[in-house]
Amino acid sequence: MKKLGPIEFSRGAFVGAALLASAYLGISAAVAQDSVDKAIDAKMSKYDAKLPLWAIQPGTAPRMIELTWYFNNMWYGAQAGNWDLARFEVYRAEETVKPIYVVRQKREATLKPWAEYALPALIKAIEAKDKKAFVKAYDEAIEGCNSCHAASSGGPLKSMAAFKITRPKAPMFSNIDFKGPKEK
Ligand code: HEC
Repeated sequence: MKKLGPIEFSRGAFVGAALLASAYLGISAAVAQDSVDKAIDAKMSKYDAKLPLWAIQPGTAPRMIELTWYFNNMWYGAQAGNWDLARFEVYRAEETVKPIYVVRQKREATLKPWAEYALPALIKAIEAKDKKAFVKAYDEAIEGCNSCHAASSGGPLKSMAAFKITRPKAPMFSNIDFKGPKEK
């Protein structure tokens, strides 16, 4: 076996130390990266109005406008027996309430019970293609809109009762054929 000379030994020790140091630096860089990732996750996961990216997110009111049009399309789809169209609109209603829980946390306590009761009832009626059940679920859902409005403040208003939701009297979009393709 070859004996290790002093120079070779010190070179070996140097390489060993360098490897150890770089492993250490690698680990500490990974640890630093990990805490940066965690800090970013924390910032991105909790609403903070001081941060522009959060501040530009739509709050409750724009989502309510979306709900209003989904409920309008849904009504006319169901009335025309276009259950696919109606089904899509409930799906959109479900999707549009979820971000409110994130950006306006205080609304969750009143909005979620409505969303988890009213929307599944609509889905059930739509999937059964049951017009009577649909109308009942629809009327109950908008009753829920109104009782939540009566109990909620918004912007300068102490109560959102000013916004009374009813069955629609006209479609919002004249360029949608609510009957869909089936009666061609
Ligand atoms: C959390 C309970 C709650 C439920 C359920 C609810 N709303 Fe609202 N709605 C609010 C609040 C709160 C505001 C005011 C939002 C704000 O201040 O940004 C509002 C505002 C509105 C507005 C006014 C938006 C504007 O910018 O002019 C409309 C329209 C509206 N809602 C429609 C509906 C419809 C339609 C439904 C049911 C399909 C519904 N809402 C269900 C709480 C609710």
